[in-house]
Amino acid sequence: MAHVELQALHKKYGTSIALDDVTLEAREGELVSLLGPSGCGKTTTLRCIAGFMDPDGGDVRVNGQSVLRDPSHKRDFGVVFQNYALFPHLSVFENVAYGLSVRRVSKAEQKTRVAEALAMVKLTGLEDRLPRALSGGQQQRVALARALVIRPRLLLLDEPLANLDARLRHEVRWLIREVQQAAGTTAFYVTHDQAEAMALSDRVAVMKKGRVAQFATPREIYQRPLERYVADFTGEANFLAATVEAMPGEGLYRVATGGVSLEVPGVPGITGRAVLMVRPEALSLAPTAIAGHTLPATVTSIAFLGAAQQIEATLADGAMLRLMVPPNAELALRGGVHLAVDLEHAWLMPDIAP
Ligand SMILES: Nc1ncnc2c1ncn2[C@@H]1O[C@H](COP(=O)(O)OP(=O)(O)O)[C@@H](O)[C@H]1O
Ligand SMILES: [Mg+2]
Repeated sequence: MAHVELQALHKKYGTSIALDDVTLEAREGELVSLLGPSGCGKTTTLRCIAGFMDPDGGDVRVNGQSVLRDPSHKRDFGVVFQNYALFPHLSVFENVAYGLSVRRVSKAEQKTRVAEALAMVKLTGLEDRLPRALSGGQQQRVALARALVIRPRLLLLDEPLANLDARLRHEVRWLIREVQQAAGTTAFYVTHDQAEAMALSDRVAVMKKGRVAQFATPREIYQRPLERYVADFTGEANFLAATVEAMPGEGLYRVATGGVSLEVPGVPGITGRAVLMVRPEALSLAPTAIAGHTLPATVTSIAFLGAAQQIEATLADGAMLRLMVPPNAELALRGGVHLAVDLEHAWLMPDIAP
């Protein structure tokens, strides 16, 4: 079992900065996702942890001890990549057993442990197949079994589901979580898919241009993002320009927005211009205006989705908001409505460039 700490990792490729002070940790048995758009430094971080690459500065510590001097095969980490990287000429059994043979584990024990690992990923019975005779999902499960069979201290997964279709992605996603929890293995999981990160992780590090923009639980990054970039990357959100008028309490603000005044929670320490996040589910229709609760708006588009209608509504200052309303709510294009804001679930953030 491993407690893994990344301390102030820095990495440059030539003159371009790939990692700029990445500090993170995964406690024993925790699954931590690195979430962010392509190019933000997720793979570079993972490669530094795995030992495929040396950081220019900073440290990687396992249970308090630096591993930077250990070559990658001595670190006892299991690694799974996006493109499986199975040996094409070896059977499923041989692929999974590979890490055990190089560690000189006896044939008898190899058999037991490969059987165990294949059972975990639900591939029992396919021992003799070659990788090309397996589906993408099965190949990725072999890769997972191969990483797990060495009983790694740490599991590193780099976009392991990226090459699978949507249905398989779901299936393998849950399998990864199940297996990781059953084995109690600490894990770092790289993805650019927010739903995947939210569903799988104990904690999520949202990365932005080689830095960690926020490191917190899925609930916290979704409900209390530190900046718009994080809010945007973790789900649908409406953003309204707002100005702080008063601070009635710690982390509580009265703001002017959309021609009204609202009292909302937010990131501590904001003054002046700010951004108000209102997720679609924190908006609903109100029959009449209620001071301090509703925004006057005009409906600009209505889409009937079956279980709900998605509407877009525009405020007097031109800001557009998206929300879901019940399927039978009667709405007219260009009709005036009052949008009720669930104030506890609105969230004020500083106005930081994305
Ligand atoms: N081998 C390399 N040589 C030069 N630049 C690289 C190399 N690998 C990655 N980069 C650059 O470093 C940054 C981070 O890349 P990467 O860690 O692969 O991001 P991610 O996995 O989040 O897509 C990007 O700007 C990328 O172009
Ligand atoms: Mg990558």
